[in-house]
Amino acid sequence: MSLLILGGTGTLGRQIVLQALTKGYKVRCLVRNFRKANFLKEWGVELVYGDLTKPETIPPCLKGITAIIDASTSRPDELDSLKSVDWEGKLYLIEAAKVAKIKRFIFFSLQNIEQLSKIPLPKVKSKIEHKLINSNIPYTIFRLSGFYQNLIGQYAIPILENLPIWVTDENMYVAYMDTQDIAIFCLRSLQLPKTKNQLIVLDGLKLWASSAVIKLCEQLAGQSAKVQRIPSILLNILTNIFGFFEWGQNISERLAFTQIISNEGDFNVSSLKGSSNLLTNEVYETFKIESSDIIQLEDYFLEYFIRLLKRLRDINFEDVQKQRNLIL
Ligand SMILES: NC(=O)c1ccc[n+]([C@@H]2O[C@H](COP(=O)([O-])OP(=O)(O)OC[C@H]3O[C@@H](n4cnc5c(N)ncnc54)[C@H](OP(=O)(O)O)[C@@H]3O)[C@@H](O)[C@H]2O)c1
Repeated sequence: MSLLILGGTGTLGRQIVLQALTKGYKVRCLVRNFRKANFLKEWGVELVYGDLTKPETIPPCLKGITAIIDASTSRPDELDSLKSVDWEGKLYLIEAAKVAKIKRFIFFSLQNIEQLSKIPLPKVKSKIEHKLINSNIPYTIFRLSGFYQNLIGQYAIPILENLPIWVTDENMYVAYMDTQDIAIFCLRSLQLPKTKNQLIVLDGLKLWASSAVIKLCEQLAGQSAKVQRIPSILLNILTNIFGFFEWGQNISERLAFTQIISNEGDFNVSSLKGSSNLLTNEVYETFKIESSDIIQLEDYFLEYFIRLLKRLRDINFEDVQKQRNLIL
């Protein structure tokens, strides 16, 4: 089976690429910058130029491809890219996939998009889900929550750098996952006929309140966090004021997203056609993935802090050596 992976340079995409190669798949990546994607080539990927905002570049990338794994999304720092990448670009991609008679299209969406319909990215994701479901292309849609990898920038680095961390309600819970584990589910779905034409809500096994994530980072960093709290009422006002901005370029969508997911157990299983309506443990059973196979947030953070502290020690050691050399 030959795979076309979009978003291979991204947080989730690179994990999917790595595991696909390990499993022996022939992997092609659609990339818009060969220099940035050079590490993928070194791993053994075939790179092809493509850009979701340039429809004519898409069909040639699909020649000889069996399945598409689309882990691309707009970069928050690129103006107007939400419309051109997450909406128009995905429409071009679905059309090209139809023509190329792709056997499986894997798409990553967000959880709770029905409740987030006023926010541009979830709104667009929801429309793309519908387009894909009605396209007659065999699909698997994963609705994801947050990634462990994003918690580094959100909590660990601000704590280490003594910068403020903005949080909303103390009872905000998210079942974060490591992108390595999401990649395992994604690739396994290609081998599981049961997952064809299914919308799967994929969660980690533990719900984390922001306060618990902060506490864990504080313990590992040996430093206290400077936590700033935003009351829900202010959050609503801010969401209304900033509501017209695009996802990622402002705080409004993040705040609104936070607000929606703030009740424990409030994870929504879609009622869309094709929705698996499976509970988390049933999803794990379907994929034959044991809870012990899943990377725990504590272990992920521990490894990060150990690597970081080692790096800092090495830098200190190099500095001392340099100073010694100067004195001698
Ligand atoms: N991050 C989360 O917490 C989260 C939560 C739930 C769901 N998801 C979903 O999971 C998927 C992966 O997210 P991620 O955080 O791993 O993404 P990411 O790190 O932001 O990476 C985005 C990828 O999309 C590519 N891309 C951007 N514009 C493009 C264009 N015009 N043409 C082709 N490729 C383009 C980027 O390429 P360049 O390197 O060239 O920019 C990059 O490889 C997305 O569908 C996202 O919505 C993410």
